[in-house]
Amino acid sequence: MTPTGLPPGEPSRLPPPFEFAPDGIRVDGLGLADLADRFGSPLYVTSALRIRDNVLRLRSALTTRWPNSRILYAIKANSNPAILRILRELGCGADCSSPAEMVFAQAAGFPRRETLYTAAYPSDAELAGAIEAGVAVNLDHPGLLPRLLRAGRPPLLSFRLNPGRSAAGPEGLRFAGRDSKFGSSLASVRQGLEAAHRAGVRDWGIHTMPGSNILAPDHFGRVGDFLGRAIRSLQRVMGRPPTFADAGGGLGVPYRPTETELNLDLAISRLVLGLRSAASPADVQLWMEPGRYLVADSTVLLGTVTDTKPGRPAFVGTDAGMQTLLRPALYGAYHAIYPAGPVRPGTRRRVTVTGPICENTDLLGRDRRLPPLEVGDLLAVATAGAYGYSMASPYNNRPRPAEVLVDGGRARLIRRRETTDDLLCQVPERPDRERG
Ligand code: LLP
Repeated sequence: MTPTGLPPGEPSRLPPPFEFAPDGIRVDGLGLADLADRFGSPLYVTSALRIRDNVLRLRSALTTRWPNSRILYAIKANSNPAILRILRELGCGADCSSPAEMVFAQAAGFPRRETLYTAAYPSDAELAGAIEAGVAVNLDHPGLLPRLLRAGRPPLLSFRLNPGRSAAGPEGLRFAGRDSKFGSSLASVRQGLEAAHRAGVRDWGIHTMPGSNILAPDHFGRVGDFLGRAIRSLQRVMGRPPTFADAGGGLGVPYRPTETELNLDLAISRLVLGLRSAASPADVQLWMEPGRYLVADSTVLLGTVTDTKPGRPAFVGTDAGMQTLLRPALYGAYHAIYPAGPVRPGTRRRVTVTGPICENTDLLGRDRRLPPLEVGDLLAVATAGAYGYSMASPYNNRPRPAEVLVDGGRARLIRRRETTDDLLCQVPERPDRERG
């Protein structure tokens, strides 16, 4: 039998509608190699079907356990407008962290009342922008309240709680504990809400986001307990239950062959158990703000082999690198890498897959057992839909790649490839005169 790119005995990190075929990987019946021929390389390829499946699975896990619930998609994970429209069509709200994310959310049709603004260390102008946009505002700490109220009163106000101890989860993706830059203690949130109440705020919410990419259901149990305790204490201040309790994002996806999928039903059951002790769906809407879970495994990054260097380790260089997918260089994150086209016969050997950037940290995968590769071969980097394009940069003046959406067996360009001219236009033609 002709070998496929999936190493024997390894679980696939490409979910349906991706499939391994003898002539290479396909998505919705389309060959990835044909897509690279048509749209160029490097290239992000996203399956609309997989995004829809992810949303429906989460929605059903939530609504069966807490009927009054809402998914707010965390736009930072992937803000491509075509992808935002899919999520909106499925009824998701939006979680925004910058003024431009709010612009994207509004352009994609997310209603204001289903949009939450959680900025880290915002300027006064940003706070005023959120008030003008008419969205719910989630403040990191009570010191921001007078600055926000100078601009106006949001329709809904919440504070971000720091649960005070780090969640499980990869280094660099923990947002709780004393050293974290995010959120406030229960005591400070209480002060913030007291001040908000004095200023006439009545509709309030509570928010927490302790970590990202978490595969252990127990973590979500701790989040539920924590929110439950907070609600009991804070509703005394506000004289009524919160309009929403927001458990943040954090739902993980498996990247490594050794990882197992998050047991979503168990995670949501545990989350809801803690909440139930303090609130009921009749009063409180449960919000979740997943980014990764909805989009990560919908997308592969295609890169073309540009050079190979034998030795120990042996290197395979591609046109995709840390400028296209930063996660391996920044967090030591693992992404499965497969040959995307036909597999060359021969022994699999350990290679380090790198990119074209002049940094020694430029890496897509270290020590990977891959079949023989030659210049021009195509590789697919799996699970690249979350924090992939959105963290890409034109470092070394390498323009950002194109993005393609596959839906119903058809592919269309959803973001054109950046050009050198795009990079040049950031430089005024006569810098001396501009200064003048
Ligand atoms: N809500 C807030 C307030 C957040 O800060 C985040 C992510 C999310 C929701 C969505 O979290 P998720 O469901 O994706 O775990 N760049 C990193 C991830 C950083 C996440 C930052 N905040 C990565 O590449 O893994």
